[in-house]
Amino acid sequence: MNPNLRTDEWKIIEEGFDPQFNRASESIFSIGNGHMGQRANFEEKYSGNSMQGSYIAGIYYPDKTRVGWWKNGYPKYFAKVLNSPNWIGINISVGNEVLDLETCKVESFRRILDMKSGTLEREFVCQLKSGIKISVQSKRFVSMADYETGAIEYSITPLNKDVNITTEPYIDGDVVNEDSNYNEIFWKSVSGNINSEKAVLVSITRKTNFHVAVAMKNLILINDHVISPEHNITRNDKYISRIYSTNVKKGNKLTICKFASILSSENHPVDRIAELAVDKVNKTLTAGFESLLKDHKQKWSDKWDECDIIIDGDPSAQQSIRFNIFHLYQTYTGSDHRLNIGPKGFTGEKYGGSTYWDTEAFVLSFYLNTADSGVARNLLLYRYNHLQKAIENAEKLGFKNGAALYPMVTMNGEECHNEWEITFEEIHRNGAIAFAIYRYINHTTDVNYLVDFGLEVLISISRFWCQRVNFSTVKNSYVILGVTGPNEYENNVNNNWYTNTMASWTLQYTLESLVKVEAISKDKFRSIIEKVSFSNDEAEKWREIVDNMYYPVDDELGVFLQQEGYLDKEQLTTDMLDPKERPINQNWSWDRILRSCFIKQADVLQGIYNFEERYDPETIRRNYDFYEPRTVHESSLSPSIYSIIAATIGNIDEAYKLYLRTARLDLDDYNKEVHEGLHITSMAGTWLSIVEGFGGMRIKKEKVILKPMLPGKWKSYSFYFRFHNNIVNVTADSDGATVTNLSQNIVPVEVYGVCEDIDPGKKKKFGRKD
Ligand code: BGC
Repeated sequence: MNPNLRTDEWKIIEEGFDPQFNRASESIFSIGNGHMGQRANFEEKYSGNSMQGSYIAGIYYPDKTRVGWWKNGYPKYFAKVLNSPNWIGINISVGNEVLDLETCKVESFRRILDMKSGTLEREFVCQLKSGIKISVQSKRFVSMADYETGAIEYSITPLNKDVNITTEPYIDGDVVNEDSNYNEIFWKSVSGNINSEKAVLVSITRKTNFHVAVAMKNLILINDHVISPEHNITRNDKYISRIYSTNVKKGNKLTICKFASILSSENHPVDRIAELAVDKVNKTLTAGFESLLKDHKQKWSDKWDECDIIIDGDPSAQQSIRFNIFHLYQTYTGSDHRLNIGPKGFTGEKYGGSTYWDTEAFVLSFYLNTADSGVARNLLLYRYNHLQKAIENAEKLGFKNGAALYPMVTMNGEECHNEWEITFEEIHRNGAIAFAIYRYINHTTDVNYLVDFGLEVLISISRFWCQRVNFSTVKNSYVILGVTGPNEYENNVNNNWYTNTMASWTLQYTLESLVKVEAISKDKFRSIIEKVSFSNDEAEKWREIVDNMYYPVDDELGVFLQQEGYLDKEQLTTDMLDPKERPINQNWSWDRILRSCFIKQADVLQGIYNFEERYDPETIRRNYDFYEPRTVHESSLSPSIYSIIAATIGNIDEAYKLYLRTARLDLDDYNKEVHEGLHITSMAGTWLSIVEGFGGMRIKKEKVILKPMLPGKWKSYSFYFRFHNNIVNVTADSDGATVTNLSQNIVPVEVYGVCEDIDPGKKKKFGRKD
């Protein structure tokens, strides 16, 4: 953990520069606007430890698969989140010396991520080898008001001498991915066009042929007055820049404003992309830095008005929940159904792809509750639009008749994950996609989604489950063999309780949905049935599987078994582990991990979380008490689910401990990997831990249930959620909870067991009952 990070309710502050934490800080201080983003790389040259990263949503490279032993069914490529042209760079020379924090003496340093306004700022004083001292301030943002615009204001003040300063804003298309499988360069050709009027670089990806145009404009100012210094142009292969040389008197401030427009062929015709990028950047220059920043801040302010969580009495928890919400909205805003939420967002290369089951299992609920329902609908449509690919994906593995297996990792619907135990076996992901449809409709009442899109997806997923089970004459039940559950520290197991539960629930929900759609519109029902050639025999078979599915349980312990044979393992608990050997995935051989009873992430408990209403509190408690001590939480997806369940069974201290682990996972670098990027999924889990955990919020079809409790240190907290598209605020303190209906419709609630209809614009206080 970086000891230079400071607690502040709205900011992440790094006070002092320690190069060993630079990569981690580059992840933590990343900025983005849902369409592009980048790590907090310095604008000026830095020769120390750094990972350059600028990313544009939807722009990827199909990197040829690299595996030790090829297996039939493996995808041919892994979709790499592409490091794209660097638009933030500004080389600085002071006198004849290049400014580089690795080689000069840094006297003071501060990096600030201002989450309220969505800006990244930096200020430092350093002494160069020549003895010249300068102070530097920089501020940059990628606009939430215009997804294709970024701007930087960068100022240098010589403190002890008059000096000539050279500033060289550039666009660099010569960028690579650190995680390239075969050290390939992913950008095929780059062409720069720079003259006195314009500066634009067009880069094209190999294989996928994406075009990206980056145009820049610059302003030079002395003490905030624009000047027009002479300048030179460079145009190397894949690189364009302007070089301004300015004499600056001691104590005067030289500022360079750099504006960039970043356009991709996902949104613009390739033959006009350069010209459009230039037009856009000209407009941003005319608008000016302050005006662009004002619009950007306004968007953030509007966003915070609908999704902020305020915690009184615990500044560190306050900082971390805002950090989580902030990065979620930097990663995905929901305005484009072709986009999704990569586990690292725009903060690193690891994981590739843009879509995992994480989206449906965790992140969807965050957007359902903090944004207009169109955002969550776009996430569902993304999968609907990939249905054909999911069917092809299943066909490649031998399934037929329209069975769909959604990919574990994807960019365009095609599977691109290539470890057999995950690609072929971690099939529970299909269940999460079906469950997301249920969640969405339960939350929004948009049953039309089921009619227009959802039912087709459900039928195809159910066909998969129907073909994936087999009847065991020994068990006289349907079984699912050879799977990996959410706990990836077990592979190729039989009858993973979670997977079997999700499969049978999907079949049941599809059967109910068939009835529902027919009741809504006979015509539409008929046309879906014809389109997918659905037969009643299929429905019969699904019913039989639902009624006869096998679920492993241990009656003596009174717990659901993660999989058959789990109890054969040596039963140890995590407190017996040597702290030096944790995380075990960085210290133990894979073989040892597979044989141990230690669990990576919520598995049985993920199922209990999904279907809580099926189980009595004692059953939930027994399973929690059994599995939590065996769970190492080495997936970022884990602590939040345990925290919610701990709160549900009234174990508030434990819930709080786990909450801190999910909330501060990246800030405190629990898993020692934040240098690779942030954990966007766990950020949604953090939000859920407060709202569903401490707040006890559940959406039942006709009402909202709340049971807010107060973790130790907190004096009060408040959050927003949406119910049937109505915005509701809840403020909880030691006396109880106040529920405010901010919408135009009556909101029925049940708080601490008391039912009330809350009128539009009204609030109601409920006394605490534990
Ligand atoms: C988890 C998966 C998750 C992936 C991406 C893995 O470590 O085990 O469940 O989908 O990370 O977040």
